[in-house]
Parts: sequence; C-alpha cells; structure tokens
Amino acid sequence: MASCHDTIVILDFGSQYTQLIARRIRECRVHSIILPASATLQQIREHCPKGIILSGGPASVTSIERPKWAKAVLQEDVPILGICYGMQLVAHYMGGKVGQAKRREFGRAELQVLDSSDLFKGLDKGPFSVWMSHGDRIEKLPQGFTPIARTENSPVAAMKSANHAHRFFCLQFHPEVAHTVHGKQILKNFVHGICGAKSTWTMGSFLNNSIDAIREQVGRDKVICGLSGGVDSMVAAAMTHRAIGKQLTCVFIDNGLMRKDEAKQLKKVFGAQHFNYRMINASDPFLQALGRTSDPEKKRKIIGRQFIHAFDHEATKIGNVRYLVQGTLYPDVIESISHMGPSATIKTHHNVGGLPARMKLKLIEPLRELFKDEVRGLGKELELPEDMVLRHPFPGPGLAIRVLGAVNLERLAILREADVIFIEELKSNGLYRKTWQAFAVLLPIRTVGVMGDQRTYEHVIALRAVTSVDGMTADWTQLPHDFLGKVSNRIINEVKGVNRVVYDISSKPPSTIEWE
Ligand code: XMP
Repeated sequence: MASCHDTIVILDFGSQYTQLIARRIRECRVHSIILPASATLQQIREHCPKGIILSGGPASVTSIERPKWAKAVLQEDVPILGICYGMQLVAHYMGGKVGQAKRREFGRAELQVLDSSDLFKGLDKGPFSVWMSHGDRIEKLPQGFTPIARTENSPVAAMKSANHAHRFFCLQFHPEVAHTVHGKQILKNFVHGICGAKSTWTMGSFLNNSIDAIREQVGRDKVICGLSGGVDSMVAAAMTHRAIGKQLTCVFIDNGLMRKDEAKQLKKVFGAQHFNYRMINASDPFLQALGRTSDPEKKRKIIGRQFIHAFDHEATKIGNVRYLVQGTLYPDVIESISHMGPSATIKTHHNVGGLPARMKLKLIEPLRELFKDEVRGLGKELELPEDMVLRHPFPGPGLAIRVLGAVNLERLAILREADVIFIEELKSNGLYRKTWQAFAVLLPIRTVGVMGDQRTYEHVIALRAVTSVDGMTADWTQLPHDFLGKVSNRIINEVKGVNRVVYDISSKPPSTIEWE
C-alpha cells in the first residue's frame, strides 16, 4: 500500500545490514520499506517509491544460484542505488562484467573520491574509511557508466551512469554501517539530493495517520491489550487508547514474577494515561504451576500457558471482544517475510503465541512498521513518562528465568532486593542509559562466607549488564570497578541471605543475555 510519505524501497538480497539501511534512511526522516528480493514489479510499484535501493547479499552474480528478482526494476523511472551485491547486479544487467576479485576485501578500506557531485556532494575527496565486504568486483563498466570513487583494491569502488538521466548510483562499500565515515551523508545525498524525497517521516505524523487507521479498522467494536510493563505494549496501548478511548481495555496480569514495586508503578502510569484497565493478581496460580520446575524451557512453556489461560479468562469476562492489540515491531515483520526464513529458535520467546487464533481475535499491530528507537520516539510523542519510554527490555517470563533453578517466594524476594539496588545505583551514577540491559540473577548455589565472626553459607548474586543495538548480539558492559564494588557492598550488606556477588563478563554469542 502506498504511504502518504515519500518512500524509498529497499530490495533485500540477504545482507546482514539490510535493516540498517532502512534505519539510516528513516534517520533522514524519510519513510523506507524493505521488500524481499523476490517482490514483483507490481508489489514494488504499489509503494510509489521515490528511489530504490538494491541491498548487499551473500550470493555472487557470477553464480547460477542467486536470488530471483524483478530485473525490470532497472527500467523504472526512479533513481536506483546498488550497494555491494546490488552494485554488481546493476553492472551485470546493464552490460558490464563482474569477476572474482584477486583479493577479497573485508573490513576497512580507504576511499578516494573521484567525483564530488551528487552522491559524494559536500564531502572532501578523502581518503576516508569505508567498510567493505565483497569477493567480486567490477571488471568492465557498463556502457555509459563512470567510476566516482576508488580504493587500493577496487578501482571501481563507486560508479554512476553518465547517461540514463543519472538514475544509477552504485557503491561497492556499505554506507549504512557506522565504520563508514560519511556513510550517513552519502545516503542523505541519495534520498534528498538525488531522489528528492521530503523529510516528512516523523513520529508526530505517523501518530496522526495511525490513529485514523485504527478508528477505521475498529469501528465500534471492543478491543483488548495485554500489558507487560515493557515499552512496546505500553506504546501500542497508548496509541490505540488515543484512537478509540474506552473501547480499549488493557489487561495487566501480575504473575508474581515482576520486579520490585512493578505493579504499583504501572498502576500509576495506567491511571495517569486514563486507561480503562484491569490488574489481575495471578501470582498464586503461576507459582503453583511452576512448582519445583527448574528446566528453563519448561518454565517458559508453563508461564506461556498460564498467561493464555488468565488472559482468556479475563477477555471472556469483558465479553464481545473482537480485536487484540499487539506490540509487534518491524524487525519481527521483516524476519517473517525474509527469503532467508526465520532464524532458529534458541529460546521460546513468544509467550502469547496461539492466543489470537484460540480466542478468534483479529490483530491490531500499530507498531509493525517501526524500529525500537522509533517506538521510543512515539512514546515521547504520546507523552508517556520518560522513565517508562527509556526503560531496559524485560523478558516475558520475568524473574522466573533469573531465579535459576526452582522458583519460590523466598528466592524471588532476594532477587528483587538485589536487582533494585543494582538498577538504583546505575541510575544515580548516570550509567543506566549507557547500558542496553542490566539486571541481577540469583544462582542456584550457596557459598561460604564470614560476617562478623560468624561463618555464613548463603546465596550468590550475579550482575549482568550489556551493551547492544537490538539484543541479537551483545557485549558485557565495562562498568567502573569502584561502581561494581559499591553495588556489591550494598547488596551483601542490605540483602539478607546473600554473601557473594559476581559480575558476568561474557558476550553474546557465545553466551546469551539472560542466563536461562
Ligand atoms: P537472550 O537471553 O536470548 O535475550 O540473549 C535477548 C533479549 O530477549 C529477552 N528475552 C526474552 N523476552 N521472552 C521475552 O519476552 C523470553 O522468554 C525471553 N528470553 C530472553 C532478553 O531479556 C533480552 O532482552
């Protein structure tokens, strides 16, 4: 469907950086959309693109095993930017020659600009660093094309068509990755200077358009939304509430696995937002169902089942509900349409799977076009409290996967107290927002210590803090030693039953962020 914004279509040939291209374009406040390489010309035209980007990808144009795509795109009357594999596609189909490079180029290279008009407008001629990742290179330019930049190993590191009304621009390197100096400016030059796309993609305009769309979709029907305390469900609910007010009922199931004072804080936010909401205390059935289960995946499944049961029960009480609001984000949508297929399940993350079909509900997914940082921008636009909008992600199964092994009230209470100290200290030392996610974990062992003159044999708390962009990969955060010392002291002194604190220094992969 065509958007009311100028749109750049990105055809995805399987590069690990395709999502980054889309995000960078949106940082220019221009709407971008990713379509699989196999999209038909008709599907591409439906978006009325102001420009088309052909992404990188793992295939080689010299091999017969390459993704099928609508080559007729090359005849469309819009500017086209080929990146890496995309550049080789343009070269190949426009009559040039692509061959294997003598030396494959991975990582940093120094780019020398040869032509500072259009794509490199406003930049000095370099050399400056760009990020390369290719095994093929252009051996013969298609007729009418000229090189516009070079590196030591790639005499044609960028090219454009001198005829074809200047429609083709190609880069051998990746402008979307942070290692490419001036990458943002190059993409800006493409979308604004070359395609003439206007900067209308703001969360304010998105909000206005979406509110109308939700009203039209829902009519006078009843809608429910499960709130988890996370940013996504909160923003989705606030937006739907803005559109249809009291037709929306928000349901918060307190499963007894939340952090300290979570329910109290959420109640305050729901109240301030004037949500029509129900808070269900389901702590007992959740803990009973968990019993002495210690296997992480079994815990997740039990919690998922209990959640569906509790939610279903509440929805039946409300009666005549037709729609369910879900905080699905664009990366989930892209993953499900990717020609590479969804990535392998390492942990069972989707706790509400099966709920809409079982309850015969239609879905409203107001965030399905947005990236996480855009959702945060939308949260601000909706005037949600900053603390809520910028909070760290929290897993659906809650503290059950941070109390390692069997879960019970006593162990949950110890973890809550330790966790709140860690988070409080991160906030008061200005470290919370520099960390992507941070939390405490209660280990299933006891260790010997000495307090006063007494021997102790008590619990161990592990602290985990990571930096990440999207949780897919992560690095452990190098928190200052004196800060860690202070947190450890406070936990051991203030949390009864803990005599040791350790810090997790593993990155993902090979570890994961959560311990279970
Ligand atoms: P992992 O541990 O897989 O976590 O590296 C990546 C991100 O996902 C969160 N996570 C979950 N979220 N249900 C959720 O809703 C889950 O079962 C779950 N397990 C992990 C984790 O907190 C991190 O942000």
